[in-house]
Amino acid sequence: MQLLHQTGHVNRQLITRRGGVLLLAAVHLMIVCVNYVHFAGANPPAGPVRCAPGTFTNCTVSNAYGAFPDRSTCHVAAVAYPKSEHDLVAVVAAAARSKTKVKVTTRYGHSEPKLSCPGDGGGGGIAISTDALSRVVGVDEARREITVEGGVLLSDLVDAAAGAGLALPHSPYWLGLTIGGLLSTGAHGSSLWGKGSAVHEYVVGMRIVTPAPASEGYAKVRVLAAGDPEMDAAKVSLGVLGVISQVTLALQPMFKRSVAFQMLDDSDLAERIVAFANEHEFGDILWLPGHHKAVYRIDDRVPHDEHHNDDAIYDLSAARSTPTRTIQSKRLEEETQEATRNATGKCVSSSAFIAQLAADNYGVKIHNVLPPPQPGAALIGYQNKIQASGTCLDSPDDDGLATACPWDPRVERGAFYYNDAIGVPASRAAAFVRDAQRLRAVSPHAALCGVELYYSVLVRYVKASTAYLGKPEDSVEFDFTFYRSRGVSPRLNEDVIDEIELMAWRKYGATPHWGKNRNIAFDGVAGKFPKIDEFLKVKDAYDPEGLFSSEWSDQVLGVAGAGGVSVVRDGCALEGLCVCSEDAHCAPKKGYLCRPGRVYHEARVCRLVANNV
Ligand SMILES: *[C@@H]1O[C@H](CO)[C@@H](O)[C@H](O)[C@H]1NC(C)=O
Ligand SMILES: *[C@@H]1O[C@H](CO)[C@@H](O)[C@H](O)[C@H]1NC(C)=O
Repeated sequence: MQLLHQTGHVNRQLITRRGGVLLLAAVHLMIVCVNYVHFAGANPPAGPVRCAPGTFTNCTVSNAYGAFPDRSTCHVAAVAYPKSEHDLVAVVAAAARSKTKVKVTTRYGHSEPKLSCPGDGGGGGIAISTDALSRVVGVDEARREITVEGGVLLSDLVDAAAGAGLALPHSPYWLGLTIGGLLSTGAHGSSLWGKGSAVHEYVVGMRIVTPAPASEGYAKVRVLAAGDPEMDAAKVSLGVLGVISQVTLALQPMFKRSVAFQMLDDSDLAERIVAFANEHEFGDILWLPGHHKAVYRIDDRVPHDEHHNDDAIYDLSAARSTPTRTIQSKRLEEETQEATRNATGKCVSSSAFIAQLAADNYGVKIHNVLPPPQPGAALIGYQNKIQASGTCLDSPDDDGLATACPWDPRVERGAFYYNDAIGVPASRAAAFVRDAQRLRAVSPHAALCGVELYYSVLVRYVKASTAYLGKPEDSVEFDFTFYRSRGVSPRLNEDVIDEIELMAWRKYGATPHWGKNRNIAFDGVAGKFPKIDEFLKVKDAYDPEGLFSSEWSDQVLGVAGAGGVSVVRDGCALEGLCVCSEDAHCAPKKGYLCRPGRVYHEARVCRLVANNV
């Protein structure tokens, strides 16, 4: 009763059912030993869960950017921090017994869409954080495998493997992701060679805690091995199957890479884009669409015995500890350009930014040597130092937040943006690029400089997968980041980016990165995955009551009766929540009306119609 008293504000559904008492007891047990070290005063990202002061109840769950695409707030009754698989089973059992909705949250929460918010918008769900489930279980040098708990950060995984002379051959470029989170959203590096760049291709074992019938104690651990058909559901699951307790990954002997950059005109980008993937194992392309340039990353494995300086590291400026004042002045400059509709101004700013990136050799440098070598010079480094960056994870512990990761929402008047990642089938990538260039040619001058202020369009390769929610075909993923206004208002030249996107989703059958993008990316997405029914079968077998599912995940997965992902309301198209079908979905009072695309006429986008202003 004491417990009920203390937590009397928790949703009634939790406390009126017998299981609810158990659940809260389990949550209570879990939280005593939470390791707070990651939150206290340090400036790595703050973590996505906030509770009533001094408690683990009455919480909100957000993401690392401080806002979901639809700007909604996600309330949960409580958060649990299991420290072991045993704890995890207890939490899931308690939730299953009381039929409470649950979702897994990670240490930093870098998925943009609302994947970490439990169903039941009333706030009665609970969050299970994997923050304390972060042990490296073991490295098997003979088998070249590593086993880690679901909450282990990519940085820790890579370090532990390297300690045993082994390497994860591909990974996303940002080290601050957990293995459970990055697998669940299909995160990847860049390659069409071998098994390709998606981390899930290297999974050879998994332990997942799912609900179970009362006769089995309400929760159980499912142990999956390579070749098990259910593995094709579990490897990329959007978190709807249960909680990933452990993952075993196949590694390779440590190797070195040689990286050089070459900036060329983008006039033959369409012709080169797929061929380039075959030329270099780890190649990617930074497309600067406003400046008509493309920076090719020439990146290959090199033999171990080559006696070069091999101290190169990857320290991408986008993942670097950045002075708060720099973040703020950059934002202020762009807000001014938006307010004065100064597209040319954005090009001036992006020229400076592009020059900086080149002077910084796009983040690839020799440890402790300044200035970095110029692009064009090949630098050699070990895979674990080259595959990803994230120095802002270790930013100094200065209570005043003098520096932070560039997107940290705690920085007042700091960055706020969208990040969309569009996987165009490789067979159609050339045509897509040509269409985008045609659109650029008939659009206002300077319309595409805005994306260049955010590291431009990063083009990476992802191979077709047997994972049911992996890429159905070899794909070229175009990753765009661009301005988002704090209030709901039109972006400068937003019609151009939005037309490019709609073209990709609708004309070219692109598939989205599950952990990025705005709602419009997920419209009808289930139909693009030929194995979606197999996935849903496993989901129903693992979690028949859908406790790990939410309205959002059901809509994305096309579950019958869940409705679509579009949120239709005034101004919805400004935020990528809908495709406009009437002017009210744009900003008619500000002169932005719903208009057909310029090249892809079927598109409907919000465009500034001058004589209406
Ligand atoms: C939960 O927290 C919110 C603010 O975060 C507060 O307004 C509300 O009163 C709290 N609810 C309870 C029952 O404590
Ligand atoms: C546009 O921005 C550029 C660069 O920031 C600046 O030099 C120029 O004066 C601005 N123009 C207007 C009309 O604000």
